[in-house]
Amino acid sequence: MAGLFLTREEQAMLDGAEGPGVQRAMRIVVALGRIYGAAELVPIKHAQIAGVSYKNLGDAGVQFLSRWAEEGARVRVPATLNPMGMERDRWQAWGIPPDFAQPQLSVLDAFARMGVSPTMSCTPYLWQGYLPARGDTLAWAESSAVAFANSVIGARTNREGGPSALAAAIVGRTARYGYHLDEERQAGLVVEVRCPVRTVADFGALSYVVGKAAGQNVIWFADLAAWLPALPGELTAGGPAVDRLKTLGAGLAAYGAVALYHIAGYTPEARDLGESLIRPDAQRMVVESLAEAYRVMDADPDLRHIDLVAIGCPHASLSEIEEVARYLAGKTLATRLWVTTARATRERAAELGYVQAIEAAGGEVVADTCAVVAPLHLLGVRSMATNAGKMACYAPMHSGVRMRFGDLEACLRAAVTGEWGS
Ligand code: F3S
Repeated sequence: MAGLFLTREEQAMLDGAEGPGVQRAMRIVVALGRIYGAAELVPIKHAQIAGVSYKNLGDAGVQFLSRWAEEGARVRVPATLNPMGMERDRWQAWGIPPDFAQPQLSVLDAFARMGVSPTMSCTPYLWQGYLPARGDTLAWAESSAVAFANSVIGARTNREGGPSALAAAIVGRTARYGYHLDEERQAGLVVEVRCPVRTVADFGALSYVVGKAAGQNVIWFADLAAWLPALPGELTAGGPAVDRLKTLGAGLAAYGAVALYHIAGYTPEARDLGESLIRPDAQRMVVESLAEAYRVMDADPDLRHIDLVAIGCPHASLSEIEEVARYLAGKTLATRLWVTTARATRERAAELGYVQAIEAAGGEVVADTCAVVAPLHLLGVRSMATNAGKMACYAPMHSGVRMRFGDLEACLRAAVTGEWGS
C-alpha cells in the first residue's frame, strides 16, 4: 500500500466486501494510483466512458464488459458513453450486418446493466444533462472532452482509459494525480500565433502544428484570444467559440497528447491566475503560418470523388447543425453527408427544423456514432472529406479511407457536387 492512503470504506471495496464487480473496479483505480504515486483517492462527480464501439473492442472487449456487469457492478455517479459503431435505430437501414450489430448491442446492454446512460456522444458538455463546473473532479476518457473540460470549463480530469473511467464510476472515486494537482496544470509550452485563425478548420490546422510540438505538455496560448469571440454564458448550444475550442482540443489530443491548454485572458484558470501558470522552464514556439498543416492534413490532393462528407468531430453542436442546414437550404446533395451529433442535440435541432432541412437536401444527422468508430468499410465508404482536424488524422488511420481536409464551405460544396474542389 506504500504511499496510497485508502479509507476504511475504500479498503473494504478492495477486499471484496461489495462484491467482485466493485473489487475489480477498485483494483484498477488503486493500481493506477500506485503507478502514478497518488497519495489518496478523491470522489468524482461524473464519468465519461470511451471504448464503446465493437469495431475497437472486438469479442474480447464484449466478454470483458459482460462479465463485469454479471459481477453486479453498478456505477455510483452519473456516467455517460462515447459513440459506438452504429446508430441504434438505423443500423439495419444502413446495411450493417448482424454479426457487427449484435455484439455492439451486447456492449450497450452491458453498460446499461451497470447503470451507464446510453448517450453515445463525445461531447458530454453539450446537452447531456450534466455540465461540469470549474473545479469539479471527473473521470473522463474521451480525449477531446478531457481537453475541453480541463481547459474551457476548468474542471479536473486525467485522460482516463475506457476501463479506468468505468472503474472510477463504479467506485465513485479516482486516484489524485496528474491534472487533479495544481502543479500539473502549469504550462510547459508557450505558443504565440502570428497568423489568422478564423474557422473551425483553421483551429484544427493549428492543433496539428502545436500538437506535434507539444507532446504531453500543458500549453499556454499567449495571444489566441484575439481570434475567439467571447464564450457564451451557456455552453450547451455551442456557438463560434465553443465550436473552435472543441476542435482545437480534439486535435491537440490527437496530434499530440495534450489534455489541458490555457488561453491568456480567456480560459478560466488563465483569467484568474495569469502567467503564474507558466513553468519557469517552459519552451516557446511561434506559429507563423498554417500552410504546412493544411498541406499535411489535406494529404491526398489528387482525390476528387468523395463518398462521405463528415461534419461533427467532436460531435456537432446545435450551432454547427444550424450552419449546415442554412447552407443546404434549397440544394440537393450528390454524395453522402453525415452530421454526427449527440442524440439530445439532434432532438433539439429537429425542434428547430434543422434536421429536416438537412434531410430534405439528402443528408443525415447521425446520432450515437461517428465516421471513425463506425465500420466504414461495411458501408462502402472509401473516400471522405471533413473540416475536423481530429477526423482528418484518425479516419485514414482507423478506417483506411482517403481524405480531403478543408473548411466547412469546401466540405459542403463537395457534398453538393460529389467532387472536391469543383
Ligand atoms: Fe468524437 Fe468520433 Fe471525433 S468520437 S471526437 S466524433 S473521432
